[in-house]
Amino acid sequence: MCHSVGVLEAVLLVGGQGTRLRPLTVTTPKPMLPVAGVPCTEHQIARARDAGVSRVVLGTSYKPEVFLEHFGDGSRFGVELVYVTEDVPMGTGGAIRHVADHLLSGPDDPVLVFNGDILSGHDIAGQVRRWREDTADVSLYLTRVEDPRAYGLVPTDTEGRVLQFLEKPSTPEEIVTDQVNAGCYVFRRRVIDAIPTGRPVSVERETFPGLLAAGSVVTGFVDEGYWLDLGRPLDFVQGSRDLVTGRAPSSILPGPVGEAMVVPGAEVAQTAVLSGGTFVGAGATVGPDAVVEGSVLFDGAMVAAGAHVRDSAIGYGAIVGSGAFLDGVVVGDRAVVGPGNELVHGARVWPGVALSETSIRFSSDR
Ligand code: GTP
Repeated sequence: MCHSVGVLEAVLLVGGQGTRLRPLTVTTPKPMLPVAGVPCTEHQIARARDAGVSRVVLGTSYKPEVFLEHFGDGSRFGVELVYVTEDVPMGTGGAIRHVADHLLSGPDDPVLVFNGDILSGHDIAGQVRRWREDTADVSLYLTRVEDPRAYGLVPTDTEGRVLQFLEKPSTPEEIVTDQVNAGCYVFRRRVIDAIPTGRPVSVERETFPGLLAAGSVVTGFVDEGYWLDLGRPLDFVQGSRDLVTGRAPSSILPGPVGEAMVVPGAEVAQTAVLSGGTFVGAGATVGPDAVVEGSVLFDGAMVAAGAHVRDSAIGYGAIVGSGAFLDGVVVGDRAVVGPGNELVHGARVWPGVALSETSIRFSSDR
């Protein structure tokens, strides 16, 4: 039964497999990877709470227990948290429909929906306000990007009504706008109930185009504040960097830290150099004369003496041996990159793998 309860609810879609972020997501779901030491989901819950959300429904599928262990009932984070788990992943639209029975909002109430891998500074309360003013069925947060080729485009008219949903453009003529779907929606509750059940549904490919075709009011809320999709390894590392340097807003972190953020209990040698928004997690160590630039060292990771790590993610308990050079690399949990190895651009070391001394040298890009 639906009745308006006066609470603003948010649904966080956190059930994806995060295949592009493997091997980091082999052990940890993408939304739980630490971005400046704090899971993306926690950054999102804090921002939603600050915008007036008091009840959050987590739509989980992949490794749901990791969320429950960290967030519990949500009271530590100032919200009521509800977990709804799909046995089989239902896609973005299917996941939204799947949580519908757990929402308290009335048929005409707004329900916020977030993709779980978006770091943003957009005006959430402003988006809800505009949704009300426009009496929209769905409002999409849109951001502008310099190079829209990798995204679905969402052109709007002068009133903000969405005109079309366009797949990734392949020719310059197809780039009709620089506005792209930024992954946060305000749904009228009854629209969620109308999504088909029992099969996978994509909101981007099926629900939104279907609403347009049916003449529903679908609007775009363009906000040019900070936005980053953490879906790919280098973007994840950039998100962490941006939080540490203060480029990305956060109501959890103590404010811009600067060149590096070192969690108490980490050990950094006096002659090591940390720069570019590097994050060093609990129990991690950085040896003498090591250089770590714009990178993320997960808890317990180790960068040995004289190693040079740039724009990379070093997983939980992973080891980078002395004198090794890493640039744009992901090292899985507890993997070992032996001394002197050189790994660059896109190389990924799977969890637990050990590369012996100078066993690998990828240097084609340099
Ligand atoms: P890739 O495999 O690397 O594309 O990542 P992903 O699985 O997270 O997919 P994508 O980035 O397209 O997903 C966008 C958001 O929706 C993420 O926050 C996902 O966690 C979430 N998501 C995607 N598919 C599902 C699903 O089937 N169920 C649920 N509950 N969430 C999903």
